[in-house]
Amino acid sequence: MGKHILVGVTAGIAAYKIAELVRYFKKLEAEVKVVMTPASCDFITPLTLSTLSQNPVAVDLYDSKTGEWTNHVELALWADVMIIAPLTANTLAKMVSGQSDNLLLTTFLSAKCPVIVAPAMDLDMYQHPSTKRNLEQLEKDGVTVIPADYGFLASGLVGHGRMQEPQQIGAFVCDFLASSDEFQGVKVLITAGPTYERIDPVRFIGNHSSGKMGFEIAKAFLNKGAEVILVTGPTKMVLHHPNLHRVDVMTAEEMLGEVQKVWQQCRIGVFSAAVADYRPRNTAEQKIKKNAEEMQLELVKNPDILKWAGSVKKQQYLVGFALETSDAEAYGKSKIESKNLNAIIVNSLEDAGAGFGHNTNKIKIIDKSNKIYSFELKTKQQVALDIVDFIRENYEI
Ligand code: PMT
Repeated sequence: MGKHILVGVTAGIAAYKIAELVRYFKKLEAEVKVVMTPASCDFITPLTLSTLSQNPVAVDLYDSKTGEWTNHVELALWADVMIIAPLTANTLAKMVSGQSDNLLLTTFLSAKCPVIVAPAMDLDMYQHPSTKRNLEQLEKDGVTVIPADYGFLASGLVGHGRMQEPQQIGAFVCDFLASSDEFQGVKVLITAGPTYERIDPVRFIGNHSSGKMGFEIAKAFLNKGAEVILVTGPTKMVLHHPNLHRVDVMTAEEMLGEVQKVWQQCRIGVFSAAVADYRPRNTAEQKIKKNAEEMQLELVKNPDILKWAGSVKKQQYLVGFALETSDAEAYGKSKIESKNLNAIIVNSLEDAGAGFGHNTNKIKIIDKSNKIYSFELKTKQQVALDIVDFIRENYEI
């Protein structure tokens, strides 16, 4: 990643979770520095955060022993993004009114980079009109707010005011850093998730696809300005964006029907869905009773949606996926030919942490000339960014 992330910590109980946030960024190979308010050091020590960030932690405006001041301007200019988490009601009010009685506040006032905040406070404080007013004002001043979550609070009460989990804050900051308008005006079609092929009203043939990979790809394109049509099989995944058009389907035939309606309007297609290759020849209208000792299901082949898209492709860039259990590269290469693709993304169940369900994946991208680009095991969010970057460099055909 290589980005400079400045983490600001204020005096809320959720400060203890910032150790995890710092680790999240370090795992993505970001350079991390931490600035803390003096009061926040009662909740988590600078030693913990300097150890995890591998950088000294800045707390004081000046060093009382040497008389030297801490250069908050330098710190602010160093950062590509500043994330203040947890943000207390007190620091929020000071940020809004421009007060600068500690190093974190002076750094905030000097920051030229985007600033993101994750408030955390008790529910009454979070609901208070002054807090609401201050958060609104902060947003008007150009600061991005990650709204507090609903849940258990340190007071023992349950309500809004809980800081978002480090994982969520980390992902938000990464999305923010990755956002651009590189794909402005470009329409992208993505297929995601499994298909379920009905046996009877209660049973189906399906697979373990969670939809995570496809939804992360959709999110990565949306964050880079694209308009995305996401045709997805059954999934628990949720994604909201003004430029997202989501179409939910159940079966391969339904997915094909939706893809056929929109493919010709799209410039790019990324087909990550795990489509069932076969479906029952007949779907029983009533639940099948378990009277017989054995039963046979007759299956017929499903349409190959990706192959159809490749066969009618004009000036479009089409990327398929290949999920293999052996000889992944060879199978991947043959699918580029047989489905008329520009590139294929190969993931193999032989690699631990890759494929279905996991939050991680390990991919190889193979292009039309059979050149192979290999990537390490990464989060699906990062994998999606690699895929979108690859397409960005190659799709202008
Ligand atoms: O959803 P997750 O849990 O995050 O998991 C992600 C994933 C493992 C499902 C994903 O990374 C992946 O590999 N998707 C493709 C799985 C697959 O079905 O591979 P395949 O080798 O059978 O199919 C090859 C390509 O043809 C795929 O692009 C597939 O979408 C497409 N296809 C296949 C059959 C069919 N009838 N129609 C198709 O469009």
